[in-house]
Amino acid sequence: MVATERGSDELPLAGTDKNELENIEIELLLSGVHRLYGYDFRNYALPSLKRRIWHHVHAENLSSISALQEKVLHDRTCFERFIYSLSIPVTEMFRDPGLFMAFRQKVVPLLRTYPYIRIWHAGCSTGEEVYSMAILLQEEGLYDKARIYATDMNNRSLQQAKEGVYEISKMKQYTKNYLEAGGKHAFSKYYTAKYNSVIFQPDLRKNIIFAEHNLATDTSFNEFNVIFCRNVMIYFNDELRDHVHGLFCESLSRFGVLVLGAKESIHFTRYSDSYEPLDRVEKIYRKVK
Ligand SMILES: C[S@@+](CC[C@H](N)C(=O)[O-])C[C@H]1O[C@@H](n2cnc3c(N)ncnc32)[C@H](O)[C@@H]1O
Repeated sequence: MVATERGSDELPLAGTDKNELENIEIELLLSGVHRLYGYDFRNYALPSLKRRIWHHVHAENLSSISALQEKVLHDRTCFERFIYSLSIPVTEMFRDPGLFMAFRQKVVPLLRTYPYIRIWHAGCSTGEEVYSMAILLQEEGLYDKARIYATDMNNRSLQQAKEGVYEISKMKQYTKNYLEAGGKHAFSKYYTAKYNSVIFQPDLRKNIIFAEHNLATDTSFNEFNVIFCRNVMIYFNDELRDHVHGLFCESLSRFGVLVLGAKESIHFTRYSDSYEPLDRVEKIYRKVK
């Protein structure tokens, strides 16, 4: 193909130009979403963000990121679907049972010494992690002096969390996790089955406050003895991760406990010196300064 035979605007884009164009389209999409709706994804890790954006382009039957931008900015329901698809609400009850076992053994004895306990589940998704904590605290006799704050940026997930209704087919795996996590009873005591679903006992919800909170844009709202933020920051870049660790450090009381996901760590963040490990393997840290 001879360039002079075609208008220069018809030249096919070389590989790096294509990449550059894709980055520009993503930047414009995220900046538009931030300006119009206030949700800020600009500091999410690019490789996984790209994958999820393309996945959503196809789910909306579109062929480019610019087309998605047009639709997201003009159609609020499309924006809501977009948020849901970027949020990756994957979770389970007593996820990583070893962590919950370690929490029982190493954190519960500390919590027993407090008159009152505040726990924040940041990025709680559809609530399975929060009900797991409520069950654990109830079994350890700590629930009545606890307040659990369960937050997420995704309102659709939070609605499900508030209802506490889950598919019955998941109970087999959850029962296994519960027992491996040191569960003391029959897991079925905590829910009532109805058709293909189960609903968790309303009693478990009485000290839980569900609220929308965005880690990228919202500030601290209380002082906590424990913060769980598991499998959320893996989707952030270093800058946003540091920002969120700043928020947690500010929100934790002295000797407060921070619990991260299996693939996450406090190391290589600006706050690594502020914590000591309570359980290095299970990613449980205690704030020391
Ligand atoms: C993979 S789920 C983790 C759920 C649970 N913590 C667990 O480990 O099973 C990630 C959750 O983080 C939430 N999330 C992502 N970015 C967030 C942000 N900026 N602020 C608050 N929540 C966020 C998502 O909506 C999603 O529900």
